[in-house]
Amino acid sequence: MKTGNGKRLFVNEVATRDGFQMESRFVPTDDKIALVNRLGTLGYAKIEVTSFTSAKAIPALRDGEEVMQRITRRPGVVYTALVPNLRGAERALESRIGEFNIVMSVSETHNLSNLRMTREQSFAQLTEVIALASQAGVPVNVSLSCVFGCPMEGEVQLATVLEWIDRFAVLQVQGVTLCDTTGMAFPTQVQTVCEAVLAGHPAMQWTAHFHNTRGMGLANTVAAVEAGMERLDMSLGGIGGCPYAPGATGNVATEDVVHMLQCMGYETGMNLDGLIEAAAELENLVQHALPGQVSRAGQRLTRHAPPADFNDIAARAHARRGKELHS
Ligand code: COA
Ligand code: ZN
Repeated sequence: MKTGNGKRLFVNEVATRDGFQMESRFVPTDDKIALVNRLGTLGYAKIEVTSFTSAKAIPALRDGEEVMQRITRRPGVVYTALVPNLRGAERALESRIGEFNIVMSVSETHNLSNLRMTREQSFAQLTEVIALASQAGVPVNVSLSCVFGCPMEGEVQLATVLEWIDRFAVLQVQGVTLCDTTGMAFPTQVQTVCEAVLAGHPAMQWTAHFHNTRGMGLANTVAAVEAGMERLDMSLGGIGGCPYAPGATGNVATEDVVHMLQCMGYETGMNLDGLIEAAAELENLVQHALPGQVSRAGQRLTRHAPPADFNDIAARAHARRGKELHS
């Protein structure tokens, strides 16, 4: 394992999309906007603000237009949103989106379950979305779900993943995100997949997106970064998950990942104290405990007071030591 040596990594926040889509409590529109505005000050490269999906499929994000239109845009931060089809792209354009994050799954079963289209139907829709984006001058990133396995089909072949990447590369998308939708990835697999995609398309803007469903999220993050990935999706507090992927749970928690990467000597540009404060605010919004750990434990060098009777303990120990020396 290597030290970060000051290497710059780019952090994308997905709590307001991947996170909120999975919450049973509807987070009020004003609170979503206030959270995005707060996050905008913390050093992110990108914030996935919402999704332009059907309100029936994702009721929690039915206010996508209003949120996207009313947020304060900070220079240097890309405000993106998930777009599954042409209707979503039109809504996104009207809302002054900074990037289309188009989505499809490399698993046929998950694509049908999540987007109600075959992969070919999705690809045809997304081809039209890319054409629309190009006319409008909006960059496009493709998020590919289930790259490291599908909760319904099991293994997904690397060849299948590479084939879909090639098809999108021909359409000149700016970036591709490799999504581990239900935490099926493991570190050596991540290394193999990341090395293969980087070798195939070195000019592509690559992003890794891990869920921590089986506790491998941080290990997978290290594997991805060591394989050369420079952009990472993560979710404040560790909320998240796809409602149409059985067994899905939260993404790796932003504050946990940033804390780890900073310990390792990577440069993330992130304000970690600000993240921990924002996670406390998020906990109020979703009204349940968050899976993230660093906000509870504090940072690595957070110091705790010794026990209340520490002076007595120490005095007794020293006295005993004195007796031992003189006996
Ligand atoms: N935004 C808003 N409404 C949309 C929409 C969009 N992007 N796409 C379709 N709709 C509406 C249609 O207008 C139609 O409305 P109506 O019933 O009032 O006429 C209705 O949804 C059904 O349209 P249809 O094209 O048949 O969509 P569908 O029911 O086959 O659903 C998706 C397709 C992609 C819109 C839907 O499955 C979806 O939004 N999935 C997203 C799932 C997701 O975000 N998962 C987590 C992230 S990975
Ligand atoms: Zn996800």
